Amino acid sequence: MHEFKYRSNNLYCEDVRVQDLAEKFGTPLYVYSYKTLIGHFLKLKTAFREIDPLICYSVKANSNLALLRALVNEGAGLDIVSGGELFRAIKAGCSLKKIVYASVGKTDCEIEEAIKLGILFFNVESFSELKNVQHIARRLSRRVNVALRINPDVEPKTHKYITTGKLTNKFGIDFKTAKKIILLARGFSHVRIAGLHIHIGSQITVPEPFAAAIAKVLRFIVELRKEGIGLEYLNIGGGLGIIYDKEIPQTAAKFAGRVLPSLKKSGLKIIMEPGRFIAGNAGILVAKALYVKYTPKKKFIIVDAGMNDLIRPALYGAYHQVVSLKRKSRMERADVVGPICESGDFFAKDRLLPKVEEGDYLAALGAGAYGFSMASNYNSRRRPQEVMVVKNKVFVIRQRETYGDLVRNESIPGFLLK
Ligand code: LLP
Repeated sequence: MHEFKYRSNNLYCEDVRVQDLAEKFGTPLYVYSYKTLIGHFLKLKTAFREIDPLICYSVKANSNLALLRALVNEGAGLDIVSGGELFRAIKAGCSLKKIVYASVGKTDCEIEEAIKLGILFFNVESFSELKNVQHIARRLSRRVNVALRINPDVEPKTHKYITTGKLTNKFGIDFKTAKKIILLARGFSHVRIAGLHIHIGSQITVPEPFAAAIAKVLRFIVELRKEGIGLEYLNIGGGLGIIYDKEIPQTAAKFAGRVLPSLKKSGLKIIMEPGRFIAGNAGILVAKALYVKYTPKKKFIIVDAGMNDLIRPALYGAYHQVVSLKRKSRMERADVVGPICESGDFFAKDRLLPKVEEGDYLAALGAGAYGFSMASNYNSRRRPQEVMVVKNKVFVIRQRETYGDLVRNESIPGFLLK
């Protein structure tokens, strides 16, 4: 379900014609649908209403303050992984008691800031990190809640770069080590292990890996209980896949149907951290066809967006549907590429597309998650503008960067200025 649909051969976002946005604000341009964003959050909330979990939207998927605020207003918590994301979470007005903090490499400074503010949880990923949290919490005279991130060694059947729950990955702690840590931590004065956390990967389209990981963790929790160790929370992470191409991912309801019974039976407070499921289909990247170029082998459509604006195809070989803002009947096979000086700078390869002409606008769909949040200034390109559409209204939620922004933090040493 999303709100990017054709009406009389023009692509609309909710009640706004996308081409009007492209012409008004210029391209490349990220366009988000508020209704789609909130709709996906509510789908999960509804599917899991029986256990009323804390749904902490994963900020890394799309960290624009307007999107964060929209979700916070609906009752979402936030899953963060850095001091920068903590800063954003606070700016977006998120309650501190709804913030959970993952990351294998939190710095002392980041830990201290979060302890001082009093977030709900640290998802701790190693014994060294736990000792460090204890040390900093003691110095600050604060008692901190921690969830140990478990690596359940489950194959999520997704791209290897976004697989995180196998023992060959850097994430989490295996069961045996986790048990030792939990026993040792009983002697820690300033940290309390209040729960466990898992996150096995991203863009997972079937429920089995989730169910397998949850089953393993719940067995472990039962084992701990037998030894008198009671836990309060289970954070089941994120990772729910969406449709980019021909995937038929589980719906929120199907996912809930599969995992709810055991979660309910556990009596634990459940947290989840979806990112892509909420934001993925809520955004598109709009670009203009600058040149159409025929080589002896191919047709290339060169657009004004590049891999710096949406890196997923270049980085993971990810598929994004590319559409023309004006529906056309004639089709032609082409590569859609950006202006960057790398052959990996593409959005589509050998794709059957409407017959695009110079000046036409195209859009990469499913760009709401890991689109802008992974954008860079490579080739000294300004990162794009972002707008949010709410029915027939349009809000600029991020200005296009200026050339000044590109060099704001740079300086030329005096000795060079001769
Ligand atoms: N929780 C933790 C601890 C995570 O590491 C992640 C994502 C999430 C939650 C949210 O996962 P989601 O529901 O969005 O799948 N850049 C990649 C995806 C990287 C995911 C990293 N971790 C991509 O564009 O496909």
